[in-house]
Amino acid sequence: VEQLKERLFEIHSIAGRFYYDVLQSEEGADARSYIEGRKLQAAVSRKFGLGYAPERRNALMEHLKEKGYAINDMLQSGLVIENKDKNGYHDRFRGRLMFPIFDFQGRVVGFGGRIIGKGEPKYLNSPETILFSKSRNLYGLNFAKAERKKELILVEGYMDMISLYQGGFRNVVASLGTAFNQEHARTLKKFAEDIILLYDSDEAGTNAALRAIPVLCTNGFRVRVMQVPNGKDPDEFIKQNGALEFSKLLVNAVHYISFEIACIQKKYNLDNPEHRVRFATEAADILSKLDNAIERNVYAGEVCRMTGVEEAAIRSEIDKRVQKEE
Ligand code: CTP
Ligand code: MN
Ligand code: MN
Ligand code: MN
Ligand code: MN
Repeated sequence: VEQLKERLFEIHSIAGRFYYDVLQSEEGADARSYIEGRKLQAAVSRKFGLGYAPERRNALMEHLKEKGYAINDMLQSGLVIENKDKNGYHDRFRGRLMFPIFDFQGRVVGFGGRIIGKGEPKYLNSPETILFSKSRNLYGLNFAKAERKKELILVEGYMDMISLYQGGFRNVVASLGTAFNQEHARTLKKFAEDIILLYDSDEAGTNAALRAIPVLCTNGFRVRVMQVPNGKDPDEFIKQNGALEFSKLLVNAVHYISFEIACIQKKYNLDNPEHRVRFATEAADILSKLDNAIERNVYAGEVCRMTGVEEAAIRSEIDKRVQKEE
């Protein structure tokens, strides 16, 4: 198995080089203009090893064959797959902009391939293999850990991570659209104490952030949350507004409790007394989960200001819930 693993590392390294070279060739012209259109600097594209998988059906497969690799190893790598009618094999990735996925030591263990025109899926990723597990990998960790910051920014996507890096924010990792889970948290725990959760500000991103918060909290991280305005993602924001504007948002990242309260507030119309009751009650549920009494008090104050409910009332509801848990 160890020898197979070694060969799979080699295959990924060769494939990364292959896609990279194709990107610089005539076949890579459209992908190069796509990269330019997304305002990625050449040096950054190089640093992240971006490449292009040709349209040709067997391009990588033939290249690996020339290098002496057996079809079974290619299949195990996930980069070559069997034809539908089982009469041969072909490349998994064709006609896509290729993002090598690195492990935390910087070895290529998989790829994400983005379509450059229209079509589905937008991203195609390596399958689970001996080298790569989506629920464990955090994209960019090999770069972020070199920064030795106690604080990491957690984003959704390849381009979010890369654009922030280009903008000078280098302590960034991406969970690649997958739900942030215990394994992710345990991995990050070795490198960071503080997480700034920065998912897309659309509904999917907001919901994913709400689900990530308890996972981060149970693993002992201090968690703050930020979102860029207008349903956008960090990549779009920094391309449009620049690094300085981004850093202004970053310093205003809020305690996760404020974010949770702001999220539930959107369900209610605070001009309506009944809604105020329901909102404040739901907020009391959330606040009672805070261990720190001072924190409970500070954020209870926020709810008072939002609803006009007296602090004593909210505090008594919170205390009831805290006592029940104890
Ligand atoms: N993703 C995926 N497969 C898809 C869509 C998304 O694997 N069909 C993952 C990718 O890692 C992607 C992340 O989820 O980077 C976030 O998804 P999304 O916000 O939809 O994409 P963006 O990263 O914003 O992609 P882009 O900016 O290139 O359009
Ligand atoms: Mn060749
Ligand atoms: Mn998204
Ligand atoms: Mn995007
Ligand atoms: Mn996005």
